[in-house]
Amino acid sequence: MSLLLLPGDGIGPEVTAEVRRVAERLTPDLVIEERPFGGASFDALGTPLSDETLSLAKASGAVLMGAVGGPKWAGAPRHLRPEAGLLALRAGMAVFANLRPALCFPALADASTLKREVVEGLDIMIVRELTGGVYFGQPRGIEALADGQKRGVDTQVYTTSEIERVSRVAFDLARGRRNKVTSCEKSNVMETGLLWREVVTALHARQFSDVRLEHMLADNAAMQLVKNPRQFDVILTDNLFGDLLSDEAAQLTGSLGMLPSAAIGAAGSPGLYEPIHGSAPDIAGQGVANPLAAILSFAMALRWSLAAPELADRLTAAVETALTRGARTRDLGGTLGTAAMADAVLAAL
Ligand code: NAD
Ligand code: IPM
Ligand code: MN
Repeated sequence: MSLLLLPGDGIGPEVTAEVRRVAERLTPDLVIEERPFGGASFDALGTPLSDETLSLAKASGAVLMGAVGGPKWAGAPRHLRPEAGLLALRAGMAVFANLRPALCFPALADASTLKREVVEGLDIMIVRELTGGVYFGQPRGIEALADGQKRGVDTQVYTTSEIERVSRVAFDLARGRRNKVTSCEKSNVMETGLLWREVVTALHARQFSDVRLEHMLADNAAMQLVKNPRQFDVILTDNLFGDLLSDEAAQLTGSLGMLPSAAIGAAGSPGLYEPIHGSAPDIAGQGVANPLAAILSFAMALRWSLAAPELADRLTAAVETALTRGARTRDLGGTLGTAAMADAVLAAL
């Protein structure tokens, strides 16, 4: 089996370096390749995602990405920005379902800015549609108007099959969990929201009526997530709402530096694993980033792409042990640096 590491920018290389150390210990036979990606690839090759890297990604057992972006590339044309490379990678690998588990480790129940009694025992799975919606819809762009103004356009668009395939993933996951799906959209104002609700409802009736389905408007869901997050089991939502709700859910677990993700596509095709946080320009280069979201993303790769669920369990347990022993990076209220936090996980392994 092989793993393609794409460190990317900012704290990306700092956290993926720790994934490499963990992988070398846990899976010594895993063949690890590394390529520049995002801003680093733009600087080296003139494009945030080279054809060679995309081909390699599609041929790998799994791909693990650190983070991309940063102020250095903020002025680049849209299609050459680091974030455009990430969207092209997701689309190119056809990983349409993004699993973002918000799990509050018992040792971190006091690390969140929310009260212990609200977040203790939290275990939510956000299923975010990842290759459609307003991130990819056409037309898009900024045009000049005759009167001297400009006009910016984004298009939110979904088809029946795009909604169905990601919904299937959510319903299947719920069956192995607490058997409940909360589907979030804005059917009260958006056409895509109306279609989303219609398609999810019909699919549920046809194939998943044993799962409890609830519909919730996405703005209410954002509020319910901080009011009573444990009401949720699986949250099913579109690309943009999923982006927002998962950052919000991350803070319930203690820090954005804790949330991993797995993006999966058709059975048998490689998954794309990435922490949900960004390149964190404000702390990049200081060696203080929390590597746990990246390390837990590797655990998800072991489970979902590398056919090693028992190693995924062991790694997750090691993270939990390290936290129980008091290991904390700065974002969790502690003083450990990135490498020292990974050391604590390795010691627990
Ligand atoms: P961000 O996630 O990079 O940072 C938000 C805040 O969380 C910052 O204060 C940062 O220091 C903190 N943080 C994030 N990860 C952390 C970690 N592992 N340990 C400790 N603290 C952490 O979001 P942003 O600042 O809005 O975006 C910065 C850049 O990253 C932008 O260019 C954006 O497009 C990009 N971005 C990339 C990804 C990705 O590659 N998947 C995700 C989100 C944002
Ligand atoms: C994420 C990020 C990305 C997104 C950006 C960097 C393209 O915020 O993975 O959550 O919006 O999907
Ligand atoms: Mn995001």
